[in-house]
Amino acid sequence: MTHVVGIGGTLREGSSSERLVRATLDRCVARGASAQMFDGPFLAQLPHYDPAAPVRCAAERDLVEAVRAADALVIASPGYHGGISGLVKNAIDLLEELARDARPYFDGRPVGLIVSAAGWQATGVTLTALRGVVHAMRGWPTPLGIAVNSVEQRPFDGSGALADPAIAAQIDMLAAQLVAPVGALARA
Ligand SMILES: Cc1cc2nc3c(=O)[nH]c(=O)nc-3n(C[C@H](O)[C@H](O)[C@H](O)COP(=O)(O)O)c2cc1C
Repeated sequence: MTHVVGIGGTLREGSSSERLVRATLDRCVARGASAQMFDGPFLAQLPHYDPAAPVRCAAERDLVEAVRAADALVIASPGYHGGISGLVKNAIDLLEELARDARPYFDGRPVGLIVSAAGWQATGVTLTALRGVVHAMRGWPTPLGIAVNSVEQRPFDGSGALADPAIAAQIDMLAAQLVAPVGALARA
């Protein structure tokens, strides 16, 4: 069974980036995958990554082990000041712990990317930055990256359910790209 790990969100209640990751994981599960989520409050437990003092707490260990075991990942960041939020980037930096694995970092695995920002400019540059991160970490950014403008679009209704059919269709396509190509990439 494909195991998909989701990372992302902010500390804001009702975080759209967190909800977008959770919605993607739900669609992956509907396609037969298992899923595990690391949301904003979880990421806030991680100390600032120090390469000289690796893996100091259970939260760090849990994230490193989960990514090590993942077949596919989905990462979401808000656009903060034109880039990836510190909360999400610190979690990614911790994954330096995977550098010396037989399968380092995100090697050989699809990584779906989602950005939520208050303007299209920040969604674009942040999505591009995340793709650069995934390339640096030997992962395969999925063909579809999702950009959500949280001022112009309303992806979720008051109950937190996905309400925008166009965004729902993109999330379903992203889930398909995360779950379907794993076998093909593993054979590469
Ligand atoms: C510290 C901070 C910096 C931000 N910087 C930008 C920015 O540069 N461009 C932009 O379009 N939106 C910016 N925003 C707005 C957020 O990207 C936007 O509200 C996003 O949807 C928040 O994601 P969330 O719903 O997961 O909390 C910023 C918000 C905060 C709190």
